[in-house]
Amino acid sequence: MGSTAAQSFYVRRRPWTPDRIARGILNHGPTAIADCLAVTVIYLIAVGARIGGLPFGAEGLGSLLLASAAGVLQVVVNVVFDVYWRDWTAAALEDVLAVAKASIAGAASLLLFNLVSQTHYIPNGAILTGGGLVIVAQLAMRLRPRWRHILRAAVGGATTAQTAIVVGAGRVGQLLAQDLSDGSRGYRIACFVDDDARKWGTYVRGKVVAGPVDDLPQLIAAYKPQAVVIAHPSPAGALVRRVLERCNGSDVRVRAVSGFTIRDGDTAPLRTIGVEELLEREPVKLEASLARGYLAGRTVLVTGAAGSIGSEICRLIAQLEPKRLVLLDTNESGLHDTVATLPNGTATEMLLGDVRDEPWLDYVLAELRPEVIFHSAAYKHVPIIERTPLPGIATNVVGTANVLAAAAAIGVERFVFISTDKAVEPVSVMGLTKRFGELLTIAYARALRQNYCVVRFGNVLGSAGSVVPIFSRQIDAGGPVTITHPEVTRYFMTIPEAAGLVLEAGAIANPGDLLVLDMGSPVSLVDLAEKMIRLRGLRTPADIPIVFTRLRPGERLHERLFFPQERAAPTDHPRVLRVAAGVETPALASLRTVVQQLRERMTPQNVNLLISLLRQVVAGPHDASTKPSDSAESTVIFEPATVQ
Ligand SMILES: NC(=O)c1ccc[n+]([C@@H]2O[C@H](COP(=O)([O-])OP(=O)(O)OC[C@H]3O[C@@H](n4cnc5c(N)ncnc54)[C@H](O)[C@@H]3O)[C@@H](O)[C@H]2O)c1
Repeated sequence: MGSTAAQSFYVRRRPWTPDRIARGILNHGPTAIADCLAVTVIYLIAVGARIGGLPFGAEGLGSLLLASAAGVLQVVVNVVFDVYWRDWTAAALEDVLAVAKASIAGAASLLLFNLVSQTHYIPNGAILTGGGLVIVAQLAMRLRPRWRHILRAAVGGATTAQTAIVVGAGRVGQLLAQDLSDGSRGYRIACFVDDDARKWGTYVRGKVVAGPVDDLPQLIAAYKPQAVVIAHPSPAGALVRRVLERCNGSDVRVRAVSGFTIRDGDTAPLRTIGVEELLEREPVKLEASLARGYLAGRTVLVTGAAGSIGSEICRLIAQLEPKRLVLLDTNESGLHDTVATLPNGTATEMLLGDVRDEPWLDYVLAELRPEVIFHSAAYKHVPIIERTPLPGIATNVVGTANVLAAAAAIGVERFVFISTDKAVEPVSVMGLTKRFGELLTIAYARALRQNYCVVRFGNVLGSAGSVVPIFSRQIDAGGPVTITHPEVTRYFMTIPEAAGLVLEAGAIANPGDLLVLDMGSPVSLVDLAEKMIRLRGLRTPADIPIVFTRLRPGERLHERLFFPQERAAPTDHPRVLRVAAGVETPALASLRTVVQQLRERMTPQNVNLLISLLRQVVAGPHDASTKPSDSAESTVIFEPATVQ
């Protein structure tokens, strides 16, 4: 035991090298001299108080020498107890105890001296009084950096710090209170709120736990804080939303405690809150086991592998031990970046190429012989494709037809076409092209009796060009945040959630299925923007105004996940729905004829013809050319010269 304690003592202490001694003298010399003088004076005063005046002559000299020795000894014991090497701005009980031990050791040495000495130059009573005073003086000197704060806490008084109400009086709340307590962070805690009723009325570092989270409106009115801080290591989305709702109507900033999960750009101790924490439902942890069944040991091709969703699909597949992962995209650097994020040892093949290039596609697919294909490559921005439809039609229709034909030629077992809610009752050219892709995929599935399917979903949070990164940039630039219309709503899902569900949907799909991911309720974009602004610790309109532009051609107020005639049926997966009774689609041969016609007429002069060809096919049993009332009319005039 003894030897272990001794070992740990020596391990803890750094050796006294000449360099360390020199640095110690340089850094702490003045403090040590002050300690020595203060202790000398304290013991002399204690002697004076004890005998009713300072002693003279030899006795006086003896007292002075002994008090000076006590001063020097104090410096020595301070060194022994590491008193000079402590961060007194964050002093804890252990540090206070170190000072007390050092001072008691000094006083005990004086008492020992008195035991062996005949003359008590410092009487025992004076040693006891002096020792007590030394502890107080030593602490006062050590805690000098915190005097102002201690004084403020004792007598109250004006402060320039912002006031915050802390949500959560648990461990994180306590640590936050400790961190903010010296005022150097610019925040002062007004009170805590916590849903645990047992904590109500108790105090955490001197601040009352005033009630549950639902009391925030009254507490904000009473304390008028500048911020509400969520002190949870990883707050649930429901808690974040509840806090935001309770803060509505006030101009407080809402922050979360960082330090447990650090994000880019965080500045301790408070961080901004990630927008995924705002989803109107809890993100789902994905089950890999379903997807593993059809992906492990297989050669899998992902088109659009450099894109937001394609790259995430690749990352998920790579974890499921495929035989080989083939990544296809026109974006060279994007391909490179995606592969760089895959686990070491993943067998990959990068194909830099274009799905519009039919001969090349036939060649590489015949060579690599993928068994499963996720077709994610597409042009997706409605206003851009509205203005320049040719690349959209060529990629989303002809490109998809090329991939399907090449897949059919080599007998691909499973094919997943990634579609979008914009394909439902399409009002935009982009929507038309994606709807055509849906119909073509299903027609192939039926003709080949193969497991080809469509997975349809709405907006993906944080994907390239989606509103979240755009709003983020606008907020970072000081605003304004632009929204097309005050009433516009969108479905939202995170990238990992969408990609994971696509893989799982692929597992449960039957040939020709059109599966739709359950995206919860649509989210109001104004609501989303307001929350994002507040989560940055800013206010609207004071800091960041929201400006309404207008719906752009092809855009609509509310997206739909199903056609009116489509009936949603549950599947074995709680988050995946199936279009019941299948989708009515023209025969594969007639769709292929349309693709051929599009291919042959793919010139700027024919743009309107190409769109009406698509519209005829897509209209099918219902009339898709009747635009729903919430969409913006296309104002585009197709000028051949401007079409790229
Ligand atoms: N982002 C969303 O909110 C969302 C929502 C629903 C559905 N989708 C669908 O998901 C798919 C992927 O979307 P995303 O958000 O990842 O888009 P993205 O733009 O990030 O990715 C698309 C990728 O396809 C590639 N690509 C484009 N044309 C190509 C071509 N001719 N040949 C080869 N590669 C080509 C691009 O280089 C890009 O890397 C699309 O089919 C889209 O319709 C997206």
